[in-house]
Amino acid sequence: MPTLSNRAAWVQAKGQPLTVAAAPMPQPGAGELLVRNRALALNPFDGVVQTLGGLVTPWVSYPAILGSDVAGDVVAVGPSVSRFQPGDRVLGLALGIDKLANRACEGAFQHYVILRQEAATPLPDGIGFERAAVLPLAVATAASGLFLDDQLGLRRPCVQTPEPTGKTLLIWGGSTSVGSAAIQLAVAAGYEVVTTASPRNFDHVRRLGASHVFDYHDANVVASMVRFLGGRDMAGALAIAVGSGAPCIDILGRCQGRRVVSMASAPSPIDDAPLARQLVWKLKRLPRLAAGFLGLAIRARLRGVELRSIWGTALLKGPLGAQIFHDFLGPALASGRFVPAPEPLVAGQGLDDIAQALALLRRGVSARKVVVSL
Ligand SMILES: NC(=O)c1ccc[n+]([C@@H]2O[C@H](COP(=O)([O-])OP(=O)(O)OC[C@H]3O[C@@H](n4cnc5c(N)ncnc54)[C@H](OP(=O)(O)O)[C@@H]3O)[C@@H](O)[C@H]2O)c1
Repeated sequence: MPTLSNRAAWVQAKGQPLTVAAAPMPQPGAGELLVRNRALALNPFDGVVQTLGGLVTPWVSYPAILGSDVAGDVVAVGPSVSRFQPGDRVLGLALGIDKLANRACEGAFQHYVILRQEAATPLPDGIGFERAAVLPLAVATAASGLFLDDQLGLRRPCVQTPEPTGKTLLIWGGSTSVGSAAIQLAVAAGYEVVTTASPRNFDHVRRLGASHVFDYHDANVVASMVRFLGGRDMAGALAIAVGSGAPCIDILGRCQGRRVVSMASAPSPIDDAPLARQLVWKLKRLPRLAAGFLGLAIRARLRGVELRSIWGTALLKGPLGAQIFHDFLGPALASGRFVPAPEPLVAGQGLDDIAQALALLRRGVSARKVVVSL
């Protein structure tokens, strides 16, 4: 391998800002790829780990490198890698701050990153790195919620046209990044998808395969959806956007079929905590958050609905990870049956731009994924 040098956007200690500095050049171990990162995407959780790391990810070793979404070129492969070789274009889920890894060399916010082969997908030539980077964590989170047995346990997706299941899935937050992946995965598994979005994104979710879409701003949206879903055999609900647990519980509690809600987010926002002087924020928000979780548990019990929480990388603990990233996503991207969505919003051109890109994400996006090119 030629001599290469690496740089990263580090978090030196919990609650610290990002600092760009040299990083060790990682060496791929068994089953690992060394990837030259060409584009990374930002997730709301990146900002949460930066500001509230001590609370939400207390296991993280510092200095840490955050970031989950990578698209780039394979530079080297470790022993027992059978699916990739140097020169391949890939997208992949980086695990730097995840409990499964907890090591800086697997964080996305650096030029050279280690990916595990079961969390990587070959990238067809026609798809640019920025478009590909929108996918890894969104696909992983959606797949974990939809297909794991301790979540919704749905039938798994196939690359060919699936046999219809005759069941309907509710996805609350279809225009989120996770929702854009979830709609496509559920349709590829043979489910009818009914979702919510703002009217400006109705076409977006329909293009991805949703059969019906409701405006979640409508004060009567729950009643309208219950009326519409009456007589359908429900497969459950994926509650993605912040605050979507309660309406999903209310709807499933009044429908036929499976009464399980898999929830990807907290009942109230936690992505707006300041980096410094957090006491006031914590005094105000943490009791509200705790009350929100308790309220959801009571609501679910009263309506006869089971409530489960999703951890986005859970699919990598078993065979589902490779089934999704390798067996499904690679061929589905190549055939065009699965498309990268939403569109990337390129907010910078290097590691120094990640901080401003995170600030942009915090202000909110609509059916776009904030991406930084490297
Ligand atoms: N558990 C995990 O492991 C995990 C992993 C990844 C993400 N997440 C969480 O999942 C959520 C979505 O993440 P993301 O990256 O996909 O988000 P995102 O794309 O940044 O979300 C933006 C979208 O949220 C939609 N939205 C906002 N409020 C909504 C509401 N009340 N009902 C329905 N849609 C609403 C907006 O839709 P419109 O523009 O159409 O209004 C917008 O398009 C976040 O809370 C994130 O923290 C959890």
